[in-house]
Amino acid sequence: MDARPNSPEARDISYHMHGYTNARKHQEAGPLVIEKGDGIYVEDLAGNRYIEAMAGLWSVAVGFSEKRLVDAAVRQMSKLPYYHDFGSKSHSPLIDLAERLVQMAPVPMSKAYFTNSGSEANDTAIKMIWYRSNALGQPARKKIISRNRGYHGVTIAAASLTGLPNNHLSFDLPIANVLHTSTPHHWREALPGESDEQFSSRLADDLEKLILAEGPETIAAFFGEPIMGAGGVIVPPAGYWEKIQAVLSKYDVLLVADEVICGFGRTGEMFGSQTFGIRPDIMVMSKQISSSYLPISALLINEKVFEPIADESNRIGTFGHGFTGGGHPVAAAVAFENLKLIEERDLVGNARTVGAHMQKRLRTLASHPLVGEVRGVGLIAAVELVGDKANKTPWETAGALGGLVNGFMQQNGVISRNMGDALAFCPPLIITEPQVDQMVDAFERSLEAATKQVGSQG
Ligand SMILES: Cc1ncc(COP(=O)(O)O)c(C=O)c1O
Repeated sequence: MDARPNSPEARDISYHMHGYTNARKHQEAGPLVIEKGDGIYVEDLAGNRYIEAMAGLWSVAVGFSEKRLVDAAVRQMSKLPYYHDFGSKSHSPLIDLAERLVQMAPVPMSKAYFTNSGSEANDTAIKMIWYRSNALGQPARKKIISRNRGYHGVTIAAASLTGLPNNHLSFDLPIANVLHTSTPHHWREALPGESDEQFSSRLADDLEKLILAEGPETIAAFFGEPIMGAGGVIVPPAGYWEKIQAVLSKYDVLLVADEVICGFGRTGEMFGSQTFGIRPDIMVMSKQISSSYLPISALLINEKVFEPIADESNRIGTFGHGFTGGGHPVAAAVAFENLKLIEERDLVGNARTVGAHMQKRLRTLASHPLVGEVRGVGLIAAVELVGDKANKTPWETAGALGGLVNGFMQQNGVISRNMGDALAFCPPLIITEPQVDQMVDAFERSLEAATKQVGSQG
């Protein structure tokens, strides 16, 4: 870190509190200040170049220097820099994007609703679901089920859906009426000898038991990511989504697919729902919708959700919910151009073919003594590191080995992210096979450096 008193690093420590950061450690270690980006690379203040193996926060599909998105923003900024959708106002970028999203949806959807972040979109989904239950004369139907290790954001309701301890501890969360069911992680959670299908059936039984224990008439919706992202890139086993959906339809529970990471090509299909045969009532999307060049998120809702809400808004006089920045014209124009680029350049196909290469390369490391599991689909993967392979237990404390390898990755010119001991790979969708090789080579070198250190510490 540059310790000069007026350096950007020192000013960051003085004036900025970070998200997802140990605030005390940060005062010692300081920030990594990223100055510019180009394709799959970013560069820090000292001129060091890194492969951005997380596409920022799972989001920069088209890479860090896409001129067409810049031009789209400038064009819209010059024409109409701001407008909103309250009180029946509208504007072309929002209409174009809504139409495109509804037409892209893998199952019939009725309307798009715009928000500014994944968390806001999930909070909005919960409010819509509660409003709908009241509209249908089912005021008891308010409970929401999500999953342990699921990630749905950080606002009060979305953080409650999230099934990770750090999002609840000392925040007095989760709120009432949010329930968590089991994680579909076969490697970690299956019983000895349990097949994928048997494990999936057991999880569907867990869900049914929870619904019955709570009273089916009180359960409104189930939220799930097609692949869990921030929980450690958990790919559900065969049969999981089919069996879960059978339980949900039996009790008339709405299904919300949180596509914030999987959406727009990540899994090698346009949506994770297609990869796993999910038929959602609501889809939540953000991140790759605009490659995160500007903040924008959206919900797609089907007729079953929209119709009662429309009736209730008519009864009350308005749908009393909306954000000043919802469907912002500049963000919407950038998102529309970004989706055009994803289609024109067949980045979904690239996620499939180059993704297959990435998965293959990473799986060659499965026999390494510090590798517990390699998992992933398309251009999203995780390598879970262990200290003791047979017992699947961590080296020293949980997350220590993940942190160590992640540190070596940065020294080797790759920005990755360890979620505990799971090291994630989620590069921009424009990545090529040689660039994947560069990234995985750096991972191999980092793993070897960690192996030496683990060996020397015993
Ligand atoms: C699946 C999922 N849902 C919701 C969110 C929350 O999005 P945001 O950080 O934009 O609020 C995230 C963020 O990583 C996510 O991965």
